[in-house]
Amino acid sequence: MRDEAGQDAVVVLPHILDPRSRPDPYPLYEEVRAAEPVWVPGRPVVVFASHEACEAVLRDPRASNDRHHALLHRPPGTAGGAAPVPAELPSFLFMDPPRHSALRRLAAPGFTPRAVRRLAPMIRELTDDLLDEAAARGHLDGVADLASPLPVTVICRVLGIDTGEREWYRTRSSLLGQAVDPYLAFLGVPAPGLAERRRAEAELTEFFGRLAAERRVEPRDDMVSRLLAAEIDGEPLTDEEIVTTCRLLLNAGHETTVSLIANGLLTLLDHPGTLAALRDDPVATAPAVVEELLRLQPPLQLVHRHAREDMEVRGTPVPRGTTMVLLLAGANRDSAAFGCPHRFDAERADASRHLSFGLGTHYCLGAPLGRLEAELAFTRFAQRVVGPELADGPPHYRPHVVLRGPASLPLRTRAILDRATPWAPPRRERSDQPGTAAR
Ligand code: HEM
Repeated sequence: MRDEAGQDAVVVLPHILDPRSRPDPYPLYEEVRAAEPVWVPGRPVVVFASHEACEAVLRDPRASNDRHHALLHRPPGTAGGAAPVPAELPSFLFMDPPRHSALRRLAAPGFTPRAVRRLAPMIRELTDDLLDEAAARGHLDGVADLASPLPVTVICRVLGIDTGEREWYRTRSSLLGQAVDPYLAFLGVPAPGLAERRRAEAELTEFFGRLAAERRVEPRDDMVSRLLAAEIDGEPLTDEEIVTTCRLLLNAGHETTVSLIANGLLTLLDHPGTLAALRDDPVATAPAVVEELLRLQPPLQLVHRHAREDMEVRGTPVPRGTTMVLLLAGANRDSAAFGCPHRFDAERADASRHLSFGLGTHYCLGAPLGRLEAELAFTRFAQRVVGPELADGPPHYRPHVVLRGPASLPLRTRAILDRATPWAPPRRERSDQPGTAAR
């Protein structure tokens, strides 16, 4: 189980956390994949980076997303079954069925492909407003002016919360994004910025608590009011469940899409032919481009799972309580799964086999929304921004390991055209299954 190659590859893991690796972490993932499984010495942690192993774990019901099953999250000396560390209030992302599925079902109707398609005109309008603002300023930063404000505004509209303070939400959810970085798994210490994260979390909890109290008195046609009115087995949700569900939707619906759009713009700058195809025939081009960008530059580079019982992953015994780190970004560039995996190929037929939205029980609830936002952002960018190129050379990256993406993308452009460019709404032929069931 702990073979020599695996031992050698252990030295790679701290480099994954190193900010200097952020521009190109993919060779590190290759090394891990070549040596898989890689066990972290002294900690109950194993790392997988092949498509086959990551897929197998994501589909395995014994692989839990509930940290209570992880020895890693227990204080020293209590590994034998004593009470686990009381974690911060978990959202349904960090629960197992049946509670997970019951809560997910309540949020799902707002995120089906059909529900999301109705948002297309609003998302297009917001994208155009952002490009108008940049044109008026005479300066466009692909992150600050497009990738960052668009998703937070969209998810706030979906949740029915005031977008006037979008900067307030944005900074807090960005801080929370670092909580998922694998410092505890690889180094045994929490990710940097714990105190600020706790403060941000408390502020968001207080905010959603206040919002829920307001909607209780005066319900509206929004997600918070729907959760307040909902029941599971005849019982209303607890206040905690309402707050953590709203917080999850805000955070998950925001940071990931920022990364998809920002990394996507950066890649597209190197592919003017694809930008031209997006400009001229977005309906035919945009879905495949987004799928390939999801594969090549996964907004969530990795996820964790915890063995709730002894299990085996592609022949590797994984004892109960082990945390499994799944390098989705490694799986998406596994040459056993994709030909020429490091190449951007907008015509790749099997790009959608990527694991960027996860798989199985926790398959991304917001996948149709994330895809649509990215399609519209790329399309309008291609149709309105003429001759874009990086103004200051290669970008600096945010410190986030999991939610990897450039911190800013200052662009030089020849022009930003007005919004009158003819446009047709994207057509999606994906299934309209309620609940966006797992693939
Ligand atoms: C395009 C960008 C997005 C990417 C790459 C992405 C990726 C993911 C991934 C990988 C997971 C599974 C995590 C795990 O298995 O541990 C997930 C779950 C989730 N995502 Fe997304 N996501 C995106 C956009 C969104 C949006 C726009 C929403 C809207 C609310 C959203 C809401 C959720 C929720 C609620 C879950 C938890 C699902 C569950 O536990 O059943 N995501 N996402």
